Amino acid sequence: MNEITIIKPDDWHLHFRDQDMLLETVPATARCFERAVVMPNLVPPVTTAELALSYKERILAARPEGSSFTPIMTIYLTDKTSVQDIKDAKNAGVLAAKMYPAGATTNSDSGVNSLESLYPVFEALADNDILLLIHGEVTQKHIDIFDREKEFIDQHMVKIVERVPHLKVVFEHITTKEAADFVLSARDGVAATITPQHLLLNRNDMLDGGVRPHNYCLPVLKRSTHQEALRAVVKSGSPKFFLGTDSAPHAKHRKESDCGCAGCYSAWSALELYTQVFDELDALDKLEGFASIYGADFYGLPRNTETVTLVRESWEVPSNIILPNGEPIVPFFAGKQVAWKLK
Ligand code: DOR
Ligand code: ZN
Repeated sequence: MNEITIIKPDDWHLHFRDQDMLLETVPATARCFERAVVMPNLVPPVTTAELALSYKERILAARPEGSSFTPIMTIYLTDKTSVQDIKDAKNAGVLAAKMYPAGATTNSDSGVNSLESLYPVFEALADNDILLLIHGEVTQKHIDIFDREKEFIDQHMVKIVERVPHLKVVFEHITTKEAADFVLSARDGVAATITPQHLLLNRNDMLDGGVRPHNYCLPVLKRSTHQEALRAVVKSGSPKFFLGTDSAPHAKHRKESDCGCAGCYSAWSALELYTQVFDELDALDKLEGFASIYGADFYGLPRNTETVTLVRESWEVPSNIILPNGEPIVPFFAGKQVAWKLK
């Protein structure tokens, strides 16, 4: 097959950032995605409905002329989030709340320290039909970084899913076989997003022959057996797994530093790279479900009606993108060939 047409996809997890950066990130996503779930880890974080609504306005203002792209807003849970905050979020049309364990990743310092005390908030999310999106890694420093996702499942995920049975939970950007198996065997109302980097790469791609900071993201890339498990679940066509790029831009100097930050800016190549993966897996017939159907169904939103077409045509991801403020950023897969192109 040299060409594939699918329902226009949505990105169920990404980071747009704010201010001038929106002029770069919003058009990059709007070129092929109809909707995107926008992560709230700004500085300061988007913790309330009011902050989410003003952030939404700034995103809409950065859309290309004539674009129908729609951001799906989220709020950031903290130790101080109240049941009233959740009701306000519902009234403002916020569809999901993001739970970062404090210190787990970029801009998560205001995240949750005591998951135990957040159960009334989880109940309120369920009662208001708001999804809980989870960064599933423990933050205990003695736990090996490669084991933090598995530990989170054992310490917290099992409990959250059981104790609030009517809560819809998305296990974000899963990276391990354990996470894939957990989601597969979990009750209805539990799903996961998967990024292009975790399907395409494993930790050798970050560490073998030299440190490659542009492949560093969190949760960190794992060994190839986990990459294979993720590839197997997307190939299976299970509706519990859908597209979430986790596109997360950081300026080049922040990545290429003695303490480089986590995140891959994949918006310009993500859809094409997912297509490449499904092609490699001989599963192009499963791409549309993963990219355009399962996420909308899980969120309870209508499926998109337009289509996009990808063609088998090789192109090279540019080595640099210049941000509106003049700073360079190195996109994910920079300088590498991608086998599929958006028509
Ligand atoms: O790699 C990551 N980057 N993982 C996250 O969880 C956050 C993100 C970011 O905001 O840069
Ligand atoms: Zn993210």
